[in-house]
Amino acid sequence: MSRAGDSREVLVSGMRLEAEGVMSLELQALGGEPFAHWQAGAHIDVHLPSGIVRQYSLCGDPEDLRHLRIAVLREEKGRGGSREVHDSLRVGQVIRIGEPRNAFALAPATSYQFVAGGIGITPILPMILAAERAGVPWHLVYGGRSRRSMAFLEFFVPRAGEHVEILPADEFGLLDLQRIAARSAAGAETYSCGPGVLLDALTARFAEQELQGRLHLERFAAAPLAATAGEGDLTVILARSGREIAVPSHCSIMAALREHGVDVPSSCEQGVCGMCETRVLDGEIDHRDMLLTDSERARNNLMMVCVSRAKSARLTLDL
Ligand code: FES
Repeated sequence: MSRAGDSREVLVSGMRLEAEGVMSLELQALGGEPFAHWQAGAHIDVHLPSGIVRQYSLCGDPEDLRHLRIAVLREEKGRGGSREVHDSLRVGQVIRIGEPRNAFALAPATSYQFVAGGIGITPILPMILAAERAGVPWHLVYGGRSRRSMAFLEFFVPRAGEHVEILPADEFGLLDLQRIAARSAAGAETYSCGPGVLLDALTARFAEQELQGRLHLERFAAAPLAATAGEGDLTVILARSGREIAVPSHCSIMAALREHGVDVPSSCEQGVCGMCETRVLDGEIDHRDMLLTDSERARNNLMMVCVSRAKSARLTLDL
């Protein structure tokens, strides 16, 4: 699978306030060279002028290879990337972006159900275009804090009723997980993106009904570093020097490496970009990234050291 790497310059050709706190950016290929083909569910690295790199889902039309669109939720308590987009970035600026990568691809199915929470609507929108073009029946459950905070409603409102349920929490309360699971029990593959609490609740409900195989999720960030047995005892061994580094339970492997002067390339630090991919020579990996496929995980020879840890007490890295 492709990882972070190549980047290219693009023009910010449009910015639009899509909802309260949600700004969309239209990015135009420079020099008339079209963008590479991408599939619904893909995301890109966006290199902001300050040097911050963030990942955003593509939410435009995959058939328009002259433009890409992303949408950015302003997060006051975030790490600064979204504030830079909202406060400083302007139409006419040139920025760099990475090639589209996809860890949330839409697999063929006879029907789809999409469940979006807030800004999680972004990867879902091109999925709906893809389902419509393929003639596959689909249904969207779109939740958010309030209508004012929910982006792209003008796309969905004309479709409401038959295909679309728009369910802001201040009008309708929490999403009805039982109805969502029932649609998958009837055969729909469910794709969901949104806040962790929504995805955790869906995961639990689908597991209860043994529907895990029909649930496909994209998280905004990696799962939290839940404590596991023996986690505090993790020791990382650097194969090339023989050095041993203790990784405290509250600390990522990447942070422990840095503390000991070992630099690992990184970008997202959330398990979504692949920049910190590291070869593992010995030990059992506890994968917590959003990037590796099941078969890549099963090989137990690569890990994202920004979020993943170990099931064994020792892990030997090719560093
Ligand atoms: Fe992005 Fe680790 S830094 S996956």
